[in-house]
Formats: sequence, C-alpha cells, structure tokens
Amino acid sequence: MSQEKNLETLAFEVRENAYAPYSNFKVGAAVMSESGVKYAGCNVENIAYPEGTCAEAGAIAAMVAAGDTRLTEVFVVADSKEPVSPCGGCRQKIAEFGAKDTKVTLANLDGVRVSMTMAELLPGAFSTDHMDTDHKDRD
Ligand code: THU
Repeated sequence: MSQEKNLETLAFEVRENAYAPYSNFKVGAAVMSESGVKYAGCNVENIAYPEGTCAEAGAIAAMVAAGDTRLTEVFVVADSKEPVSPCGGCRQKIAEFGAKDTKVTLANLDGVRVSMTMAELLPGAFSTDHMDTDHKDRD
C-alpha cells in the first residue's frame, strides 16, 4: 500500500477489495496514525454473518499489528446515498485509539463528504473515566 496516497484515495481503493457477497455493500476505511503512517481496511463478511468484520476494524487492526496505537484521522467510504455512517461498534473502536478532536470523514461515491470530530461521532463515549472507582471511597 502506497504511503504517497492520501487517506481518501486509500479508502476508495481498498473498498474495491471488500469481501461483501452477502450484503453487497462494500466499505473502505483508512486511518492516519500518530506516527504519520497510513493504514487501510475493508469489510470482510462471512457466511456465519456475525463473524463478518467492518472496514474500520480492518484498518485499525492493520495499524495495531504494525505497532501503532494512536490515530489522528479517519476516512470511511461506501456506495451509500448519504455519506456512510459507521456502526456503533466501529465508533467505539475509533474512540479507543483516537481523541475527542480526531477528524472523521464520511463519504459516498458521489463526492459527498461530511467531516466531524470523534466527540461528535460518539458523544459520551464509554471511557476509562467511567471505570474510576474513586467515587466509592466515601469513608
Ligand atoms: N460496514 C462497515 O464495514 N463499516 C461501516 O461503517 C458500516 C457497515 C459493513 C458491515 C457489513 O459487511 C456491511 O457493511 C453491511 O452492513
């Protein structure tokens, strides 16, 4: 995968490789890591439907496998009427490795783009703050 290409091009290109024989809905995703390396992923479906994985999950898995654990930007594309909306699980996956101000761009094949921050994509994300048990130390 060429590092010369931008996230948008990488997401469009990897989408072509999506394995989506059951939904016929191909999705491509590309992420930029904090170290400046780009990673791409597509959805990979399975005859046992719940075993299928999303494009965002693939791109994030490639990033983590390469040793990067922070992302600064995300681009997702599909052939949808409106720019594709990442599922809830993918929003939480992006939140795991991004920050509240991480830019997430959603796109369709017709040139419609919408960009938002991670905080806008998943307001009130479950985080380590919620697991802080200090509030229990009352005596
Ligand atoms: N899908 C993704 O890969 N990412 C999204 O953000 C939305 C949904 C995939 C999962 C499944 O293979 C197909 O799109 C239809 O749900």
